[in-house]
Amino acid sequence: MSNIVDKLVEEYIRDILPENQGQLKALEEYAKKNNVPIVHPEVAKLLEVIIKSSKIKSILEVGTAIGYSSLIFSNAMGNEGKIVTIEKRGDMYEMACKNIEEAGLSSKINLLHGDAAELLPQIDGKFDMIFLDAAKGHYQKFLLSCIEKLDENGMIVSDNVLYKGMVASNEYLIRRKITIVKRMRKYLKYISEHPQLTTSIIPIGDGLALTYKSGRNFSE
Ligand SMILES: C[S@@+](CC[C@H](N)C(=O)[O-])C[C@H]1O[C@@H](n2cnc3c(N)ncnc32)[C@H](O)[C@@H]1O
Repeated sequence: MSNIVDKLVEEYIRDILPENQGQLKALEEYAKKNNVPIVHPEVAKLLEVIIKSSKIKSILEVGTAIGYSSLIFSNAMGNEGKIVTIEKRGDMYEMACKNIEEAGLSSKINLLHGDAAELLPQIDGKFDMIFLDAAKGHYQKFLLSCIEKLDENGMIVSDNVLYKGMVASNEYLIRRKITIVKRMRKYLKYISEHPQLTTSIIPIGDGLALTYKSGRNFSE
């Protein structure tokens, strides 16, 4: 139970989604068996809709894991799409490399190995979409490095922002998660109240925030 969406409603939505086949299905099975967190199916579908309808052609992703979401995004963008994705853990990076190669997408997905906090400032170019899906306690720091890399009319998507409901209510809080939860609350307040940002927080999956930036020059 996610504490975010009613269990029966979530099950219904997941059941109605067509099952992935082939490599994506194998990666879902691997992730489940090995406790690798990957994007929830209904969130992946929402992002597919956004990518296709907004004709997104470049994505910067923070947190690759085994490359599952990168493959979904790359398929949704089609042949012209490009992704830069960052993964800190060596074992995950190796697996993602192998999976991206197996999918024949090595020329479309540039996988970087390292800590996003260090790598983000070194990345060149602008992106239509930035997907934050790593180290929930560091979203604020990542955001400030990412925002300059967001193309005009681009969107920042932050995943897991309600963190099993704990961010929304202390009723769900596990004490040892208090630091992450406090940081996430601060982050959500920042992206919701900043005059140059327009944010919608959606209770889907583990909570998703969609953020639009207005104006060229962003001031903190
Ligand atoms: C939720 S998983 C990513 C899932 C992936 N986006 C998907 O949906 O298939 C988060 C990943 O972020 C990585 N990570 C955590 N902190 C990071 C950091 N500072 N820089 C880069 N990667 C990081 C973790 O090792 C983990 O593999």
